[in-house]
Amino acid sequence: MKSFAPGDLAVVIGGTGGIGAALVAALRPEIWVVSLGRRTEPALDLLDEASIAAAAAHVKGLGATVRLVIDATGFLHGAGFMPEKTFAALDPAHLAHSFAVNAIGPALLMKHFLPLLPRAERAVFATLSAKVGSIGDNAVGGWYGYRAAKAALNQLVRTAAIELRRSRPAAVCVAIHPGTVDTGLSAPFAKSGLNVRPPSVAAAEILAVLDGLDAAQSGGFFDYKGDALPW
Ligand SMILES: NC(=O)c1ccc[n+]([C@@H]2O[C@H](COP(=O)([O-])OP(=O)(O)OC[C@H]3O[C@@H](n4cnc5c(N)ncnc54)[C@H](OP(=O)(O)O)[C@@H]3O)[C@@H](O)[C@H]2O)c1
Repeated sequence: MKSFAPGDLAVVIGGTGGIGAALVAALRPEIWVVSLGRRTEPALDLLDEASIAAAAAHVKGLGATVRLVIDATGFLHGAGFMPEKTFAALDPAHLAHSFAVNAIGPALLMKHFLPLLPRAERAVFATLSAKVGSIGDNAVGGWYGYRAAKAALNQLVRTAAIELRRSRPAAVCVAIHPGTVDTGLSAPFAKSGLNVRPPSVAAAEILAVLDGLDAAQSGGFFDYKGDALPW
């Protein structure tokens, strides 16, 4: 990426996931990378704010310029839960878990990691959202919890970006749709005919988009080609 300087630090949260691990692998030749997640040291669990605060303090203590923070966490299915096809399937516990991981957790990441960005120089915070979180693009319904939580995430990113502009005018804070990528998250749904890309390809595309964004585009929602998506 052209926007790195020697000694800069990148942080990938969810660096043990499908896309997250590919982002770590793509970044490592170019920049010092800290990968954070439930299985790293320090461990970061989105459901435990103290672990997020401790991980951010660890990153701050490294003393480097934090040039890039990518949140590659997310939850679509698991623990006996599949996305809802009908409102008859809505379940409060599952909705709460989707919001906790897909919206509240990333909001807490912004709370603890945005203050680590440099005040005057360009730096990027990006969270991986999903096009199905677009209300304007929703033509087929279904996936209530995931859609709604990603829509909430997009609003949280937009709101934080507006505030961030005041203290860090050169910073970029965006939501990125990675497209359909061959990971555990998409595996049950990635039908043939969809443009399913390997994580390594998606990671390269995401990083190219982030490299090209400027501060005027902060607060936006972009896909892996760099095209703005409707809210
Ligand atoms: N794959 C796609 O086609 C696709 C399409 C659109 C959007 N996205 C978005 O892209 C992002 C990455 O997805 P992926 O495909 O790489 O999924 P993935 O392979 O399932 O990775 C998900 C990541 O989220 C982490 N995570 C889940 N719950 C967590 C928690 N409580 N605390 C901390 N980390 C937690 C997982 O950690 P562990 O490693 O500890 O499990 C893992 O690192 C997600 O936001 C997803 O919604 C993906």
